[in-house]
Amino acid sequence: MSDIAISILNCDFNNIKFELNRINDSIIKYIHIDIMDGHFVKKNTENLFDMKSICKYTNKKIDVHFMVKKPKIFITNFLKYNPDIISFHIESEENISKNISLIKSHGIKCGIAINPDTDIHTLNNYVKNIDVILIMSVVPGKGGQKFINSTFKKIKLIKKKLLKINPKIKLEIDGGVNNLNSKSLNKSGADILVSGSYLINQKNIKKASISLLKV
Ligand code: DX5
Ligand code: ZN
Repeated sequence: MSDIAISILNCDFNNIKFELNRINDSIIKYIHIDIMDGHFVKKNTENLFDMKSICKYTNKKIDVHFMVKKPKIFITNFLKYNPDIISFHIESEENISKNISLIKSHGIKCGIAINPDTDIHTLNNYVKNIDVILIMSVVPGKGGQKFINSTFKKIKLIKKKLLKINPKIKLEIDGGVNNLNSKSLNKSGADILVSGSYLINQKNIKKASISLLKV
């Protein structure tokens, strides 16, 4: 069975305590934090998340997704929030292996995110040393986009080629995940489903998150 992460990119930040409370009481495992630098993608969310309040009010694990050109400084700044997973992009500009080591040296699980148009072979050299592949099912940059259907093919290919090298890797799917595609994603072997707008827009997040687990 997969785990659910909720992207809070589009939540009501003026009522963050209320927003997190309605998540606390659900089977959701992770709060997915989308950090954008205004360079790797257009949007900048560096000051959007009040991490102190988020850590104070949530009882969930933190899953950080850096959509940034230069992850190192962001990784360093986030260590104090004790995240469970930190993911950065294979398309980022710094030395990938060094940033993997930086994350792992702090006992944090390391994910590498991959854009819809990027070839999975770019991950070859790193799969032995990472814990998660964050497969983007939309072009990164904003919430509320439509799920790209070729993601299913990509999951299959990653399972066939990369999980052979490291079977322990978890596959996390991010973007446009909802109750219409979750069943197929679960069948395809996804380990973590990230859902943003679909879950946030529900009155009853508890019920909606359970619906994402169906196989
Ligand atoms: C896209 C982000 C996703 C996104 C998920 O750039 O990485 O995490 O916000 O939100 P939905 O489910 O609305 O696509
Ligand atoms: Zn994300």
